[in-house]
Amino acid sequence: MKLLVFAGSTRQNSFNRKLARVTAAMATASGANVTHIEIADFDVPMYNADLEAQGTPADVMRLKQLMHDHPAWIICTPEYNASYPALLKNTLDWVSSPVKGNPEWTDGFKSTRGKVVGVLSASPGALGGLRSQSHLAPLLINLECWLAPRAFALGGAGTAFDDSGTLVQPAHRDRVRAVVDQVLWAAERLQPAAG
Ligand code: FNR
Repeated sequence: MKLLVFAGSTRQNSFNRKLARVTAAMATASGANVTHIEIADFDVPMYNADLEAQGTPADVMRLKQLMHDHPAWIICTPEYNASYPALLKNTLDWVSSPVKGNPEWTDGFKSTRGKVVGVLSASPGALGGLRSQSHLAPLLINLECWLAPRAFALGGAGTAFDDSGTLVQPAHRDRVRAVVDQVLWAAERLQPAAG
């Protein structure tokens, strides 16, 4: 199973980027074919339809293709003001916008429809960014993704990782693994029906 993992943060010491690294390693150990991307590696401007009319940026096309090629995704989202960050919204808005004049990409949801998506979050706060997940969920459903019912919000993220980026508490590792396992399980079954 091809799994795409990414975090909604570009911060150097981001807890969600750390969580994404842990997730990717666990999924690889479970036998998944994992692609772990950093959104910072993609040159994606703030969405503007006038800009888009001049041509969809090359890195948006790269993202569309990558997302299309992976039946399963896991997103690690920070929480900003009880929701998910603009970085994620902007990225997913670009990805879901039809590419004018390109018959291969006139269907805006081509790269998102039928994906099985697991959501994790991490925050220094006690709730672990749980509220970001409840805002991200309707967006993903609008993109016609299958949202995995199992999720995990890592609270107290400031002390959750050791210096090597390992999740210190076995219970935290178990929660992440449970999401990974469910996403891979569901993606295996839903892939033929993904359309
Ligand atoms: C935050 N943060 C935050 N945390 C939280 O648990 N609930 C919240 O509503 C918010 N709101 C919020 C708004 C803004 C504008 C910022 C910049 C930050 C704190 C946030 O969780 C913290 O900065 C994390 O470290 C961000 O995630 P990364 O970059 O570490 O992955």
